[in-house]
Amino acid sequence: MSVITNIEDLRVLAQKRVPRMFYDYADSGSWTEQTYRANTSDFAKIRLRQRVAVNMDNRTLATKMAGQDVSMPVALAPTGLTGMQHADGEIHAARAAAAFGVPFTLSMMSICSIEDVAEHTGKPFWFQPYVLRDREFMGRLIDRAKAAKCSALVLTLDLQILGQRHKDIRNGLSAPPKLTLPNILNMMTKPRWCMGMLGTKRRGFGNIVGHVKGVADMSSLSAWTTQQFDPRLSWDDVKWVKDRWGGKLILKGILDEEDARLAANSGADALIVSNHGGRQLDGALSSIAKLAPIVDAVGSRIDVYFDGGIRSGQDVLKALAIGAKGTFIGRAFLYGLGAMGGPGVTKALEIIRKELDVTMAFCGKTDARTLDRGDLIVADDVRREFGLAK
Ligand code: GLV
Repeated sequence: MSVITNIEDLRVLAQKRVPRMFYDYADSGSWTEQTYRANTSDFAKIRLRQRVAVNMDNRTLATKMAGQDVSMPVALAPTGLTGMQHADGEIHAARAAAAFGVPFTLSMMSICSIEDVAEHTGKPFWFQPYVLRDREFMGRLIDRAKAAKCSALVLTLDLQILGQRHKDIRNGLSAPPKLTLPNILNMMTKPRWCMGMLGTKRRGFGNIVGHVKGVADMSSLSAWTTQQFDPRLSWDDVKWVKDRWGGKLILKGILDEEDARLAANSGADALIVSNHGGRQLDGALSSIAKLAPIVDAVGSRIDVYFDGGIRSGQDVLKALAIGAKGTFIGRAFLYGLGAMGGPGVTKALEIIRKELDVTMAFCGKTDARTLDRGDLIVADDVRREFGLAK
């Protein structure tokens, strides 16, 4: 195997090792994938201001997210079906994050259950629910997260209905995968993945199976969301979740200043500027293009976090410099997981830390908390496009 130097190397390896259905699920956006692509390509429009002859000794990336110490402001985002990228994927990723000193967020749509991850990880993790029609089940989920000592709840607001992802339809995405001839033929080319899956019992939606009644097809994400997710979601429901949970609350999926104001008014501890990795509203602006206007609108009232398109420590630095107090990576760690399991997640985090640290030094800064818009060079037209006042 060739040497891994960056996240793209991990992506290439993951594509080789993970069955097509699950690799495609992670690495796709909705409809034309315009927003999915813009999330990464817009980062390239922001350049960095190099400084020299500045003492770069004693650098630190440490800060806090949701009141908790983190070794760098990069959390693992909630990603559905993580345990299908690699056997027991959520447990591997949670352990890698805990050892690294960054938060792991467990998706409600995980393969390993909340209790299972808690039992196999030393440190508290964060949990991400959706608002469900069945409030009793939803309330129980929140209580389960409490009982498992999850230290923050990340409530997703932008996926009450599912954006259409063409590849998932073509591949017949399900967990566990249905044993059709094309799936079997494809899985035969992924022996490591198959060995892992044969060695684990965790192959379905762990938080759901056995906990909920009345869902015809438990293995299908799209059937599940259509039947269970509540399309009537409103800010009153956010209040209900906040009261029921009673702990740190982070609102995920904010892409508009007006919604950011409502999020700040809700009393949540933080919001995440996010377009769900370009998987929901295709045609929406990239996350990085919306970060500055949202920071400027509400950054003094609520912590603003960021996700969408981060594939390097330089991307993290750009988000922090614009004003994010923390960032989340999804695909960047999933590629590591699919490529090499737990050590691959650690590798992804190491790559990002090194890139962030060295880039910060080149910019003449030694503390990630002091990065600001002065560290960026942005052409006037891009400034206008990204709402970045001079
Ligand atoms: C779930 O959150 C998904 O984007 O598939």
